[in-house]
Amino acid sequence: MPASTLPPTLHVSRHPAVLHKLALLRSVETEPKKFRELVREISWLLGYEALADARVSPVPVRTPIEEMEGHRLADRIGLVPILRAGLGMVDAMLELMPTAQVWHLGLFRDERTLRPVEYYNKLPDRATVDLCLILDPMLATGGSATAAIEVLKHWGAARIKLVNLIAAPEGVDAVVRAHPDVEIHTAALDRQLNEKGYIMPGLGDAGDRQFGTSHS
Ligand code: PRP
Ligand code: URA
Repeated sequence: MPASTLPPTLHVSRHPAVLHKLALLRSVETEPKKFRELVREISWLLGYEALADARVSPVPVRTPIEEMEGHRLADRIGLVPILRAGLGMVDAMLELMPTAQVWHLGLFRDERTLRPVEYYNKLPDRATVDLCLILDPMLATGGSATAAIEVLKHWGAARIKLVNLIAAPEGVDAVVRAHPDVEIHTAALDRQLNEKGYIMPGLGDAGDRQFGTSHS
């Protein structure tokens, strides 16, 4: 995906701290404990960037010196981690947005068809937030992200952003085509998918690396 054709809804972080941590995250030498710490740290930085256009409202503050008008986050935010791998992104996001609600959505990718299968949905009856952030480290074919966005739209979510650590051009294309209104924040846009639907160069299986379930 040449830089000149990047969709306007795609935001690839250029922050040096993100770049530094991402190289450590990708390394095959990185063990699950360190991997989880890095997922958390990069998620915090991406969450910070994704919140840049959130609304604030005035709030009176009394400093030790005088009264002033400060701000508080006005958007009600819903965090939607995609199980399993999105779980590792939740704590960092809650540090940034302590009042956010968390709704879990369980999707796994069928290894043969690469299509997403929904197995868990803990959304409340109605959408009661202004902004939903879907959390998933990997955007590969885009099947899982597109399915999650469809679930959230059907449920009434007005504004949705997707936060990924690594995206493939194929996944970005799929999301942009199906949902041009959804902004995508990612730490990296990689080269392409391999024949098994893994991102190259990527980092391997994000769920297995976080939870120590790699078989190799
Ligand atoms: C991974 C990842 C995404 C999905 C991305 O989950 O966390 O949810 O694959 O692939 P896609 O863009 O082609 O849909 P996986 O299905 O491996 O489940 P897991 O998190 O339980 O390991
Ligand atoms: N899911 C992962 O965890 N990694 C990939 O590279 C693709 C899908």
